[in-house]
Amino acid sequence: MRILAIETSCDETAIAILEFKNSGVNSRINSRINSRIKILSNVVSSQVKLHAKWGGVVPMLAKREHQKNLPAVLKRALVRAKIKNPEKEIDLIAVVNGPGLEPALWTGINFAKALSTTWDIPLLPVNHLEGHLFSVFLQKNREFSISNFQFPAVALLVSGGHTEIVLMKGLLKYKILGQTRDDAAGEAFDKVAKMLGLGYPGGPAIAKLASQWNSKFLISNSPKKIEFPRPMINDNSPAGEYDFSFSGLKTAVLYKTKEFSKLTPKIKEEICCEFQQTVIDVLISKTIHAAKKHGAKTVILAGGVSANKELRKQLKYKLQATSYKLNFLVPAKKFTGDNATMIALAAYFRWNKKKRPANLQTLKADGNLKIT
Ligand code: KG4
Ligand code: ZN
Repeated sequence: MRILAIETSCDETAIAILEFKNSGVNSRINSRINSRIKILSNVVSSQVKLHAKWGGVVPMLAKREHQKNLPAVLKRALVRAKIKNPEKEIDLIAVVNGPGLEPALWTGINFAKALSTTWDIPLLPVNHLEGHLFSVFLQKNREFSISNFQFPAVALLVSGGHTEIVLMKGLLKYKILGQTRDDAAGEAFDKVAKMLGLGYPGGPAIAKLASQWNSKFLISNSPKKIEFPRPMINDNSPAGEYDFSFSGLKTAVLYKTKEFSKLTPKIKEEICCEFQQTVIDVLISKTIHAAKKHGAKTVILAGGVSANKELRKQLKYKLQATSYKLNFLVPAKKFTGDNATMIALAAYFRWNKKKRPANLQTLKADGNLKIT
C-alpha cells in the first residue's frame, strides 16, 4: 500500500509518500514487526529562517506559510514519487492532528480533508509524537525493513514542545511514565540560546559552542568554573522519578550571565557546555532508571533534541555500560526534526491495527493531544 502523509504541526511544511510491501504486521505477537518499506518521496519545506527573525515560532506566521507552501510541497512529493494519478496510486492519506500549534495544525488538516474528498481516499489522523517514536526506524536507506523490534521499550521523547519518558508495552501501546513540569528540553535550549544572543533554533547553536569548549577544555585540562545543579536528578519519589523541570535551570543560566560584565565568546562556550551537560545528565539518568525499572529490552531516543551529538553518544555509552542487554535506537540525523516520513510510518501501523478512517466532519486539531 502507499501512504501520503502531511505534517504541519510547527514550522516545517512536510509531505512524504511511502510504499509498504507485505503487510506482515502481526498484532497478536506484537514483539515482531515485519515489512518492506520504501520512501518514495520526503519533502520538507522549513520556515526556520522566517521565524528566526522573531526569535521563535510565531503561530499565525506558521499558518500563513503552511497555506502558501502546501500545494508546492505536494506537487514536489508527487513528482519525486513518480505518481501521476494519486486517486489510483495512493491508498491512504495521513495527517497530524496534534500536539502542536493549532493554527498550523489546521492548515494541514484542512488540506488533507480536501485531498481526501477530491481523490476519494480515506484519511487517518496521526499523533505527532507517535511519529517521532516511529522515526527511530528511519536510517539512511530509502528502502528498509522493520523486524524483531523488542518490547517493552522505553522512549525518551525530547523536542521543542515535549519532554517525556514513554513506556511502549507493545505495538501502539503507550504509557507516559513522566514528563516535564515546565519547559521542554528543546525549549530550554532555545531560551538559553536567546539569552546568549545565539539566535533560533537554539539547540544546534548551543551544541556547536559546547563542542568548541569541550575541545579546548580537553587540551587545557583547566578546572571547571561554571556548574549548574541537575534539576530533579535525585528525585526518586513516585511522583517525580520520571519527571523533569528545566525552567529553574534556565533561570540559573540567566543569573550566571549577570555575574560577568561582558559575555566573551569563551564564557558563552563554557556556559553552553555546562548547560548542555546538565540537560544530558538529567535526561540520561531518568531514562536509564526507567529502562531498568520496567525491564526494557529497547531504549529509544527521538524528537528534535535527539539530533544532539553528545546526547546520542553519551546515552549509547551509558546504556552499553549497564549490565542489561539493551537495543538502542535513534533516528538518522535527517529524520530527528519534524518530517512526514515518520508520520506515514506511524499511520501504517495504526491503519493495520484498525482500518477506521477519520470522520471528515468531526476531525479537528488538538494542540495538547496526548499519546495513547
Ligand atoms: O521535534 P522538533 O523538530 O519540533 C518539535 O516538535 O518541537 O524539535 C525542535 C527542537 C528545538 O527546540 C531545537 O532547538 C531542538 O529541537 N534541537 C536541538 C538540536 N537540534 C534541534 N537541541 C539540542 N541539540 C541539537 N543539536
Ligand atoms: Zn516534533
